[in-house]
Amino acid sequence: MADDEFRYASGFGNEFTSEAVAGALPAGRNSPQRAPLGLYAEQLSGTAFTQPRAVNRRTWTYRILPSAVHPAFRRIGNGRLRGTPFDEVEPDPNRMRWDPLPLPRDDQAADWIDGLYTVAGNGDIATRNGMAVHLYAANRDMTNRYFVDSDGELLFVPELGALVLHTELGPLRAGPGEIAVLPRGIRFRVELPDGLVRGYLCENFGAAFTLPERGPIGANGLANERDFQYPRAAFEDRAGSSVQVVNKFGGNLWAADFDHSPLDVVAWHGNYAPYKYDTANFMVIGTISFDHPDPSIFTVLTSPSDSPGLAGVDFVIFAPRWLVGEDTFRPPWFHRNVMSEYMGLVRGAYDAKAEGFTPGGASLHNTFASHGPDAETYARASTAELAPQKLTDTLAFMFESRWTILPTRQAQEAAHRQRDYDSVWSGLERHFR
Ligand code: FE2
Repeated sequence: MADDEFRYASGFGNEFTSEAVAGALPAGRNSPQRAPLGLYAEQLSGTAFTQPRAVNRRTWTYRILPSAVHPAFRRIGNGRLRGTPFDEVEPDPNRMRWDPLPLPRDDQAADWIDGLYTVAGNGDIATRNGMAVHLYAANRDMTNRYFVDSDGELLFVPELGALVLHTELGPLRAGPGEIAVLPRGIRFRVELPDGLVRGYLCENFGAAFTLPERGPIGANGLANERDFQYPRAAFEDRAGSSVQVVNKFGGNLWAADFDHSPLDVVAWHGNYAPYKYDTANFMVIGTISFDHPDPSIFTVLTSPSDSPGLAGVDFVIFAPRWLVGEDTFRPPWFHRNVMSEYMGLVRGAYDAKAEGFTPGGASLHNTFASHGPDAETYARASTAELAPQKLTDTLAFMFESRWTILPTRQAQEAAHRQRDYDSVWSGLERHFR
């Protein structure tokens, strides 16, 4: 793929214009009697027409055929994908941890759809509340297959290998250390330039991810608006070919055979669009005196609910940073939390765990589960000399939800689940005198 296909426009939530062919975008109106170049005009509404301007998202597309041109969708198998309600197994108060999801073998062709594996979730797709945690592990490009998630927005956190997301609004490339967000209802296919991929996927059924308020931090810092990158228009003209479009709707997969590519948008303008972000650009804020702030200071994106400050899901990163706190226990402290915490690791080590939490692995600490540093980390951090220390080459993250994150049966019973996770805290000794 030519480099110029990955030139991006920047600015979170901006109103963008883009045309792959000069003159494809009508001037001065959205829906002229005849759109330029024989294209069809079609609006894609990501919010209700009447939602406030600050959150309203919609995009006008100018495409070779209206997206309405397709036969009926028919039900296909869900594979390892699960939807709401997450009630396959009883809610379990135990802390859980997993090794990485096994990769597909060379002789097992798995494209990104085949490789989806649901770990846990909450809420209700029908009323657009809650979230799901999926993993993906794949080794084949989607060439004649496309995907659309009618249920939720998708946040990709690559752990192994890069993804090229060919979307209706243009291509995005995201590798480990970067994230990508695809709004609900945008069609796409996934190519794997590195051949083999694995990563985490948050499916957000609630309000679209947005940037957290900064409050007293001011006008700059954390994830800065300018570092969010949006694709430029690009289209596939595959008239007469037979392709499959897989639609996740109501928690299940449906498919229809199209005689053309659904990625046939030649020009678009609007603010409902996929984007990517490089976590290396996250401006990390931490203590320069004592204690460390609550990890909400590391929030990249949040899906707000109707209660101020109470997120359906937050995406939080633990990025490379300096630790300088004086008279401070520097790793994450012991903690019980009404919010539920699913954690993953993209690279390096996480400063609350000495071992067992590896890249591609994950932990789940549900509402009020006691968690925190393991015994080895406590012993080290409580006696360490408190010189300034830099945590380098590490990237952990958290999907934190207001609702209990309920595992699927396959995740609860997985061979790669660590049955002895509780023992990481069993070595903590009494020091009380
Ligand atoms: Fe926590």
